[in-house]
Amino acid sequence: MDITAKQEEWLQAIAAASDGVALAELDKRLFGQGGEVLGMVRSVTSLPKEERPTFGKAANAVKQAVEAALKERREGFEQVELEKDLSATDFDPTEPGSKPRQGAMHPITIVQNELVDLFTSMGFQWEDGPEVESEYYNFDALNIPGDHPARESQDTFWLTDGNLLRTHTSPVQVRTLQRLVKEAKDGKAWEPPLKVIVPGRCFRSETVDKTHEHSFYQMEGLVVDRVQEGPDGKRGVSTANLIHTMKTCLRVILERDVEVRLRPGFFPFVEPGFELDVNCPFCSGKGCSVCKQSGWIEILPCGMVHPNVLKECGLDPEEYTGFAFGMGLQRVVMLRYGIDDIRHFMGGNLRFLSQFPEVPR
Ligand code: PHE
Repeated sequence: MDITAKQEEWLQAIAAASDGVALAELDKRLFGQGGEVLGMVRSVTSLPKEERPTFGKAANAVKQAVEAALKERREGFEQVELEKDLSATDFDPTEPGSKPRQGAMHPITIVQNELVDLFTSMGFQWEDGPEVESEYYNFDALNIPGDHPARESQDTFWLTDGNLLRTHTSPVQVRTLQRLVKEAKDGKAWEPPLKVIVPGRCFRSETVDKTHEHSFYQMEGLVVDRVQEGPDGKRGVSTANLIHTMKTCLRVILERDVEVRLRPGFFPFVEPGFELDVNCPFCSGKGCSVCKQSGWIEILPCGMVHPNVLKECGLDPEEYTGFAFGMGLQRVVMLRYGIDDIRHFMGGNLRFLSQFPEVPR
């Protein structure tokens, strides 16, 4: 076979192809199944051994030349097609693409994540509990019996089956302790101290205004440890531990050094109970409209776990002590970002939401 003549013939055919379709057909004829070029390359096997290397080399060179010619013409046709397409519309390929609208992190999520990171770094573990709760866990087990006036202050959404939407995250204190005590009875060792946080949504039948929402987020904290014999007598978890933990937490979240003060606060499941105030970040304690001229902002209800709660969970209050706190997340977020109306959080207004950092991809 005169492959030089063949090459010439093929190259001419390629040059003569009138459009992309004709070229594709030619491609098939040359390189498809039973194609002429491939046939030529394979014909090497019918030659005597000594002629094969020379022929093989030459045949490969022809094949490559034909392939290259095909490719060049194909690209040429594609370019023409593209230009045709472009001139048919007013599409401008140099215009920058439009960025798809991307979601932002909700400020409550941002602060909750930071708090979870902080507390887990201090050895706390995350516990969860149901939003539809029983009367027992929401009230009775927390030392709030049926006739107790403290129930009044937590306007409750009751469900028709006798359950309710939890009014706080404190029921998870009891659920966690009871589970551990039960597991210990089943032989699974529980090593105090117990340190948990419970971020979660709570509900109260409140009239919505600037500072009240019917659905809101809390972050409960609970620390329980065994009373130990120290050099100066028995020592359990103390109010000093509580204050230190709260100060650390507020310092990180509010991104500045904080002063705190404790006032007595009444919650049946802690004794003593406190309202922890932080010095107003807006006026540094001088007095402004946010802190109602007092210089202090009420931020954290907390206290030492009530012996009745420990007993209800199967722990001996002589042997175990602890502290608990219940942070209102919205409150903290409002202070952190200077947000003046709690209704923004659930209002769904994109102008509000899109001010926060985008969700990382
Ligand atoms: N659960 C209480 C509330 O929502 C807050 C709280 C939690 C108080 C833990 C003391 C200790 O009002």
